[in-house]
Amino acid sequence: MDIIGDEEKKALMEVIESGYLFRYGDLSDPNFKAKVWNLEREFGEKIGSKHALAVSSGTTALLTALWTLGIGPGDEVIVPGYTFIASITSIIFSRAIPVLAEVDDTLTLDPDDVRKKITPRTKAIMLVHMLGNPGHLDEFTKIAQEHNIYLIEDCAQALGATFNGKYAGTFGKVGAFSLNVYKTITAGDGGMVITDDNELYKRAFAIHDQGHLPLRQGVEQGKRTILGLNFRMNELTAAVAQAQLKKLDYIKNTLQKNKKQLKTALSQIKEIKFRKVLDEQGDVGTLLTFFMPTVESAEKLANKIGCTTVAKSGWHVYNNMEHFLDQMTVTSEGCPFTCPYYKGPEINYYKGMLPQTDDLLKRAINISVGVSDAGLGSAYGIKITSSHDEIDQVAQNLIKVINECL
Ligand SMILES: Cc1ncc(COP(=O)(O)O)c(C=O)c1O
Repeated sequence: MDIIGDEEKKALMEVIESGYLFRYGDLSDPNFKAKVWNLEREFGEKIGSKHALAVSSGTTALLTALWTLGIGPGDEVIVPGYTFIASITSIIFSRAIPVLAEVDDTLTLDPDDVRKKITPRTKAIMLVHMLGNPGHLDEFTKIAQEHNIYLIEDCAQALGATFNGKYAGTFGKVGAFSLNVYKTITAGDGGMVITDDNELYKRAFAIHDQGHLPLRQGVEQGKRTILGLNFRMNELTAAVAQAQLKKLDYIKNTLQKNKKQLKTALSQIKEIKFRKVLDEQGDVGTLLTFFMPTVESAEKLANKIGCTTVAKSGWHVYNNMEHFLDQMTVTSEGCPFTCPYYKGPEINYYKGMLPQTDDLLKRAINISVGVSDAGLGSAYGIKITSSHDEIDQVAQNLIKVINECL
């Protein structure tokens, strides 16, 4: 989001002047600002989670989540075919098996299709709250309980989203967030992992920092009782993230207000259908998505406003992940990426395997309300800083162009 200013600058300078760039410092030294620790505490308090762990990206947040839950060789994880590729690659690099499922008109996981895809090998459902909107959290909480499987929430695109008044990320066993430049708040890159479970938190901490368990408190070596890697966040990133977190409510309120103006204006076109939003109050408002009546009209519109249909928006759609589709066939002997422990029937990944998702995405158009990202198809639209008049101009232009395409 375009609102980096003096607050972030001041926080960064504090870190540079303190001399402590690493997340661990001398707690008795007043110069040490402990930005990472403080960000974790403030993030947990804001989202309503007992624990929050800062990491280097949304991708490492997902890896930490999966490994913390012990997901690995032979396990199946159900994931939507409409998501950023990192949701899928984090499962593959855990040596587990991604089972692709359909999205519905919320553009998040379709509970009916997920039910059909649960097997005795299913270990988790990765619910991705795409484009700032929470998915079917009521249904998936129930499904996870009924089948005794984990619900992991990929909230990379939905920091600040709520469902029935509770923050997305706090429904599942573990939630993962991204702080890259296309997200609600940003520190350039970065990620957060949240959980209410004390033991899982300790494991997540150890995984993100070379296996330190019990927790490493400071610059001392501490005990390393499990294997981990380095997914740590540093003080510079945390300084920016902490300043940005304070702006989260302002960002959400502004985006919601601007989105409402745009949506109300476009509502006069009866032929378009807006993406279903399960909780209007809970939507972060980063994007406005609607479906054109036909693929041809959607293509025509995308062309005229200089974007793409969502179907053609790059690595957010399984059909465009050729490197993954070509290389992944899971047989009982394993596959190049996973492992020899898989005991189920052969799984193939191919273009067109999710027809409901394909039909929706071919007709879907993403308009930026605050996230202008060609990779999401949202190159056209407004910014968080757009004035009432500017939004009106964009709305009037869209109304004219959409009508020309119908
Ligand atoms: C749904 C989703 N999951 C995961 C990620 C990965 O986040 P990062 O880029 O911070 O690694 C992204 C980032 O675009 C995303 O959109």
